[in-house]
Amino acid sequence: MSGTIGVFDSGVGGLSVLHHIRRLLPHEQLIYIADSGHVPYGDKSASFIEQRSLALTRFLVEQGADAIVVACNTATAAAITTLRQHYTLPIIGMEPAVKPAVAATQSGVVGVLATTGTLESARFAALLERYAGEVEIITQGCPGLVEQVERGDLLSAQTRSLLERYTAPLLARGADTLILGCTHYPFLAPLIGEVVGPNITLVDTGEAVARQLQHRLHTELPQRIPSIASVRFFTSGDVEHTTRIMSLLWGEMVVANTFYAPVPGHP
Ligand code: DGL
Repeated sequence: MSGTIGVFDSGVGGLSVLHHIRRLLPHEQLIYIADSGHVPYGDKSASFIEQRSLALTRFLVEQGADAIVVACNTATAAAITTLRQHYTLPIIGMEPAVKPAVAATQSGVVGVLATTGTLESARFAALLERYAGEVEIITQGCPGLVEQVERGDLLSAQTRSLLERYTAPLLARGADTLILGCTHYPFLAPLIGEVVGPNITLVDTGEAVARQLQHRLHTELPQRIPSIASVRFFTSGDVEHTTRIMSLLWGEMVVANTFYAPVPGHP
């Protein structure tokens, strides 16, 4: 049986995870949806994100997906429990890389850059409870950063100044390891590296999620056979703009198709 892997995010950030998936599973058919019409998720209510996640997953399943990757920390925190109640197929989520960061830190202080939605979630509190141990974890919400990536603005003075503002308090308190707790942020890693300097370790979970997906496919869908590799892209936002930014971040020319699923009471 050949299958399709469905991947979604609030916007283009989940492409940072899709890169790892394609590298590890080059023969798979992949479908990616950017919910660009509703980005950012970081300041939206959990119930809104749940509705969007259900609509996105439904579409991916209709397109033949037999496994789903929620390539968004914020949507995972808000909606993965509901998604798993509605669907029995493998659903892999993302969470900030607290465990590897705790293993990596020498100073005993770790900073977490993420959306407010992720940082305020019960899932994140449980993650800290489980893995932080003796390490001091300092969190930093980063309003505006997702929007910079959505604009394809990875290097401007404005993006740099946001990064300086968000990382300075973490460095001042002795953090030597920073968690990129939002799938948009790996696209800013070169600039973050410039801002914080070479002695600070940056960690994210994109690669681990791709490995987790590979493992779940092997164990839960062992009859799967390699298919003709393909990647299809969809957006609920402006097709021309998203096509341009996706092409930039994916590293080759891609075409975004329209995905339309209104949420009752919202445009
Ligand atoms: N890429 C999403 C995440 O991982 C961004 C959330 C947002 O749209 O604010 O958290």
